[in-house]
Amino acid sequence: MRTRVFSGMQPTGNLHIGNYLGALKNWVRIQHDYECIFCIVDLHAVTVYQNPAELRAKINETAALYLAAGIDPKDCAIMVQSAVPAHAELAWMLTCVTPIGWLERMTQYKVKSAKQESVGDGLLQYPVLMAAEYPVLMAADILLYQAGIVPVGEDQAQHLELTRDVAQRFNSLYGDTFVVPDTSLPTVGARVMGLDDPTQKMSKSATGMNHAVALLDAPDKIRKTIMRATTDSNPEVDFDTAGPGVLNLLSIYQAFSGEPDDTMKTRFTGMRYGDLKKQVAEMVVAHLEPFQQRYREITADPACLAAILRDGAERVSPIANSTVGTVKRRMGLYT
Ligand code: TRP
Repeated sequence: MRTRVFSGMQPTGNLHIGNYLGALKNWVRIQHDYECIFCIVDLHAVTVYQNPAELRAKINETAALYLAAGIDPKDCAIMVQSAVPAHAELAWMLTCVTPIGWLERMTQYKVKSAKQESVGDGLLQYPVLMAAEYPVLMAADILLYQAGIVPVGEDQAQHLELTRDVAQRFNSLYGDTFVVPDTSLPTVGARVMGLDDPTQKMSKSATGMNHAVALLDAPDKIRKTIMRATTDSNPEVDFDTAGPGVLNLLSIYQAFSGEPDDTMKTRFTGMRYGDLKKQVAEMVVAHLEPFQQRYREITADPACLAAILRDGAERVSPIANSTVGTVKRRMGLYT
């Protein structure tokens, strides 16, 4: 039996080349080696207000982007979280076995709570602070399917650690129930930084005009954004002294072209930044144009997309329901 893999993205913001190179491309690479479930985690999205019509459209857009990237729905299940009620059900049961202290020590909580003006109302603040990325719901997503591997970026490593802790705690309280997922992340994708600020990871929610190249940006917009990318005060490319902005451009080029380091060095050493940017822009456009063509074909047939999502939910539901059934019996709940 193949090890099960689970991963997901929120259907919010605009998916960009960082999401593609850091996650989607990696999913496509491993999709036939494991039994994969790729989820659109809409229940996570509504932890902050979403315009209903926009959310509904974003769910389809995200599914179409998974497909355009090359996820094969014959082999993998592509599914929407809210189509499988067991996610919310298991999240409640896991919430009950998760000590608040485990959540409070998470970096994300600490960063957010440090920004709050008053202290001492941690208990009341806690749901608000954790809302945007509710980690126990994420644990439920993963444990529901007994996933062994969860390919996520480094920024989610602590969430995965919490998932392991929650699984172990449940197993020790109620008997062996959950597979404890591996922490070794098989993600080898590039870590793409913001084009306007190469010290920050490229983000879906950043507001800067020149921050990201979205997967659905028109070629001219892609060129403009890359030509405006922040570099440094060197006159030309020097691999030894290049600042983070130039290294980011080089790594985007390399992630798309797949060229080895020595070819990259010969190609770019001594090149002026304007020319470097032109080459990066053309490389990105050359990859995104066929990608966008596939996206248009997929979205031109909404019935087909709907059938893929329905099929995904139908395939994973028996696994999810069986886990919830076991959890209820173990806990003494009514089944
Ligand atoms: N929390 C993840 C993020 O914000 C999304 C996510 C939700 C997820 N559930 C998951 C990722 C389960 C992997 C597995 O990016």
